[in-house]
Amino acid sequence: MKAQLLVPAAGIGTRLGAEVPKALTEIEGKPLLVRTLERAAIPECLSPAVITIPPESREAFDAALRAWFPAHAYHLAAGGRERQHSVANGLVALDADTEIVIIHDAARPFVPVEAVRASVEAAIAYGAATVAIPVTDTILEGDDAAFLERTPERRKLWACQTPQTFRVTVIREAHARAARDDMLLTDDASLVRAYGGKVKLVLGSPLNFKITTPADLQLARLIIREGLT
Ligand code: CTP
Ligand code: MG
Repeated sequence: MKAQLLVPAAGIGTRLGAEVPKALTEIEGKPLLVRTLERAAIPECLSPAVITIPPESREAFDAALRAWFPAHAYHLAAGGRERQHSVANGLVALDADTEIVIIHDAARPFVPVEAVRASVEAAIAYGAATVAIPVTDTILEGDDAAFLERTPERRKLWACQTPQTFRVTVIREAHARAARDDMLLTDDASLVRAYGGKVKLVLGSPLNFKITTPADLQLARLIIREGLT
């Protein structure tokens, strides 16, 4: 089955507070996006990756990708206001004969390749899959005034990661319905689930964290310098 990688990279990184879009932030000499593509672009997935970018930064993304991957083709798609809009734009840009789409955040450079492969297998088997890890902390649900409302049973809780991998027909339908209903969620697997679809949970890794804050960036630098990945 033909698989294609879709990398949402259109965020500006407000919480990171950098001067360039987050995906172009240098980590030990390489842009974050380049590190992520090196990991997530599994050899089985030879078609050009679709990367969503902030439209005003097209030249900077193009320059970085040409410098680091001179022999690789890729499609740049304009991102939207929220991540979900960016993914929707990316889905439109997939090759017509692509059957499986691997959606992986530019902000997760340490994804294990086994998790990418396992997500593809699960998407072929069940239609939709997300990488996730069982939570180790007890999770509290608070109310608006920061009083404890509820403590969900930890045994059933997973922290969501990417990749989220789908049969293209499944994720396109979920996005079309969400656009009609004005439903906006922070991940794509939950959209599929919201419309009743089956989503397999595939084991990720604590190293597959999302670079969100300056502390995450420091941790990423340390991981690379110490060769921990
Ligand atoms: N993303 C996107 N389009 C958006 C927002 C986010 O493609 N409109 C992408 C980001 O580039 C990132 C991933 O979705 O790879 C996860 O988003 P997040 O970590 O929230 O990144 P930012 O939105 O850039 O960060 P912040 O929320 O701090 O601004
Ligand atoms: Mg964001």
